[in-house]
Amino acid sequence: MAGEVQRGLEDVVALESQICFIDGHGGRLIYRGYDIRELAEQSTFEEVAYLLWYGRLPTRAQLDELRTRLARLREIPAELTGILDRIPKECAPMDVLRTAVSALAHFEPAETRPGASSIGGAQRLTAVLPSILGYFHRRRKGLPPLAPRPELGHAQYLLYALRDREGSELEGRALDIALILHADHELNASTFAARVTASTLSDLYSAVTSAVGTLKGPLHGGANERVMELLNECGTVDRVDAIVRGKLARHERIMGFGHRVYKVEDPRATILRDWSYRAGEAHHDLHYFELLRELERVVHREKGLYPNVDLYSGSVYTLLGIPSDLFTPVFAASRVVGWTAHVLEEYQDLRLIRPTAQYIGPVDLRYAPVDQRA
Ligand code: ACO
Repeated sequence: MAGEVQRGLEDVVALESQICFIDGHGGRLIYRGYDIRELAEQSTFEEVAYLLWYGRLPTRAQLDELRTRLARLREIPAELTGILDRIPKECAPMDVLRTAVSALAHFEPAETRPGASSIGGAQRLTAVLPSILGYFHRRRKGLPPLAPRPELGHAQYLLYALRDREGSELEGRALDIALILHADHELNASTFAARVTASTLSDLYSAVTSAVGTLKGPLHGGANERVMELLNECGTVDRVDAIVRGKLARHERIMGFGHRVYKVEDPRATILRDWSYRAGEAHHDLHYFELLRELERVVHREKGLYPNVDLYSGSVYTLLGIPSDLFTPVFAASRVVGWTAHVLEEYQDLRLIRPTAQYIGPVDLRYAPVDQRA
C-alpha cells in the first residue's frame, strides 16, 4: 500500500549528504560546515569549488594548483566548435549549453572521459562551461573566438567570455560572489536530476546534461531573467504597486520571490541586494535597485513573500553588461560545481533513486482490437 503522496516531493528527505545545509527557518546556508556569508565575504569561487569537491578548504598551494588546472582545462575541442558552429544563432543559450555538455563527452581525453566520472571530469566541466558560453555568444555577435586567457581567474574569465572585455576589480568581485552564492543548494531540482541520473550508474556528463535541462525552467534558474522583464515593464518606481497588484489579481507569480525551503529571506538575496547597490553605485545607476526595493515592499505587503536568490542577481548581471539570456547559463557555470560534487557523492553511497507513484487510473479495462473501437 503506497503512503501519502508528497506532491513535488515537498519535505521528503531523500538521502544523506555532507555537502550543503539549508536552515529554511533560520535563513542560513552552509557549504561543508561554512556559512555562506563568511564565504562570500572572504573566499573566492575557486576556493568554494575546492571546498565542495574535496570537503575541506584548500591550502595556498592546493588553491594555486586548482586555479592553474582550471585555466588549463578551458579549451574547447575543435570537434565541439564544429557542432556549435552548426547551431542556429537564435537558439537559447541554455539549449546550446545542454547540447554542448552532451556532445563534449564524445571528444574528451581519457582522464575525463564519461565513465571515468571523476573529479577530473568535474573540473573539466567547470573550466570549459565559460568557454562554451563565450564561444556561442561571440559567434552570434560576430566577434572572433575567445582566447583561453590563463592569467584570468574563473569569474574574470567568465566576464571576459561574455562581454569581450575584462571587468574592473569591483565587477570581477561582484561576479565571483554571485558564483559563490550559486555554487550549491542541497537537493534543488537540477541537482536532484543530476543525482537521479548518477544513481543509475550513468556518467558525469549525462548527469550534468540532465541538470542543465532542469535548471532551464523559469521556476528554477530562469527566474532572474523574468525579474528584469518585470522591472522593465514597471519602468518607474511609482508604477510598481499597480502592476504587481494586477499580476497577483490574475494569479500570476512574481519571479524572485518565495522558496520551497526558505521560510524567511534567502541569505543569498541579502548578499546580492548589497551587491546590487554597490554595482549600481559604481555605475552611477541605482534605477534597478530602487525598483527592486519597491517590488520587495509591495510583494511583502500583498503576499508576505520574501526575496530569493533570483531577485537581485539579474540587476547585478545587467550592470556588469551580461545579456539577460545568459543569466541562467551563468547560474549553470557556477552550479556545475554543486552538481558534480553531488554526483561524486552519489557514486560513493549509491542507491538507485526510484520513488513510487500512487496510481489513480483504472485497472479493469478490457482490451478491444483496433477495428472494434468506437
Ligand atoms: N508569486 C506569487 N505567489 C507566490 C509566489 C510568487 N513568487 N511564490 C509562492 N506563491 C504563493 C502561491 O501562489 C501559493 O499561494 P496559494 O496557497 O494562495 O495558492 C503559495 O505561495 C505557496 O506556493 P507554492 O507554489 O506551493 O510554493 P512552492 O514551495 O512550491 O514554491 C517556488 C516555490 C516554485 C520557488 C515559488 O515560490 C515560485 O514560483 N516563485 C517564483 C519563481 C522563482 O522565483 N523561482 C526561483 C526560485 S530560487 C531558485 O531556483 C534558484
